[in-house]
This record gives sequence, C-alpha cells and structure tokens, in this order.
Amino acid sequence: MNGGADDAVLRAIRTRRVVRALTSAPVTRADLETVLDSARYAPHAGNRRLHRYVAVTRPALLRALRMVSPGMLQQPTAAVVVCIDWAQVRGYGFATTNPGPYIDVGTAAATMLLAAHGIGLASGPVTSFSGAAVATLLGLPDPVRPELIVCLGHPAAEQPPPMRRRHGTGWADIVQWDRG
Ligand SMILES: Cc1cc2nc3c(=O)[nH]c(=O)nc-3n(C[C@H](O)[C@H](O)[C@H](O)COP(=O)(O)O)c2cc1C
Repeated sequence: MNGGADDAVLRAIRTRRVVRALTSAPVTRADLETVLDSARYAPHAGNRRLHRYVAVTRPALLRALRMVSPGMLQQPTAAVVVCIDWAQVRGYGFATTNPGPYIDVGTAAATMLLAAHGIGLASGPVTSFSGAAVATLLGLPDPVRPELIVCLGHPAAEQPPPMRRRHGTGWADIVQWDRG
C-alpha cells in the first residue's frame, strides 16, 4: 500500500511530525491566523461551534503556560489553546456525557497541526497541563475549559530522533474488516 504518493493532502498527512526543537523566531500574525482559520474547516458534532480558541503570543505568557504544562517539552513562540465552552454545550442540549465536544477538540487540533505543517510551521499537541492553572493564566470565564494546546514555532535545524513507532504496528494490525 503506497497509493497517493503524488497527492498533496496524503503527502502532508504522511510527513507531519510533532516538532519539539524550535528556534526563537516568532510566528507571524498572518501564519497564526491561517492556523486558527483552519480549525473551522474541521468536522464538528452537530456542526456547532462549541469551542473557543485562545491565541497566545506574548513570550511571558508562553513561559507561564510552559511552567504549568509538564508535557510542553518544546518552547513554542505561539500557541493555540483549544477550549470547550460548556455553557454553549449545555445551550445546544448536549448531555455532559456526550463525547462530541471532546472529539471535536481532536478534529480541530489535527486540522490545525496539518495546516501548520502546510505553511512550514513546526507544531505539536499538548494535553499534559494543569487545566485550572491554564484557565487562570488566560483569564478564562468559568464555563470555558482548556483541553488541548497546539504549540507552534519554527523548526530548529537540529532535531532529536523521532519517537520510535511502537512494536512496528502497521495499519493492517489494527483494522478489522467487517464483522469479526
Ligand atoms: C491527545 C494527544 C495528547 C498529546 N499530548 C502530548 C503532550 O502532552 N506532550 C507531548 O510532547 N506530546 C503530546 N502528544 C503528541 C504525541 O506524543 C505524538 O503525536 C506521538 O508521539 C506521535 O508522534 P507524531 O505525531 O510525530 O507522529 C499528544 C498527542 C495527542 C493526540
């Protein structure tokens, strides 16, 4: 299986990697807006927009975010904090047990990571952070909770070796065809 080698979308999907070694060069406003805009093209449950995106560019605030995020191994020069607005979720009539809003965080994040890759930015998702501390740092109102941070920056020339794919799992190892 190596179909679509010439297809730009498939090539982007296959070449995107989390990049954790970044330069100190800032992300331009235009590039950050391109990444933010891409999120609205992601599929969302009920086609509702129950999320809020906080774009962080101030170096002091980025440093503070890093201090409350053990999983933020990179030093990003910009970040997008994807939040669920639980007031909107309730207003739409979703039960709080409905996984849709969380799944939407993933679709939006994946789309932003690919958009960043497409314009030559380095990116990486982070969920290992203190939600309460991030909410306080960003001054979020109570029903708006941070769920995932997309770190952004420019890739450094030297990169650590990529994490090994565990057990060499291929797509066929994790796919069931029809009824098992
Ligand atoms: C939901 C989610 C949470 C993640 N949280 C972190 C994190 O806190 N810190 C981190 O360095 N990477 C995090 N990652 C990135 C994964 O470690 C990374 O995607 C995985 O190692 C595969 O690497 P690749 O995307 O370059 O193929 C997260 C990824 C996802 C999807």
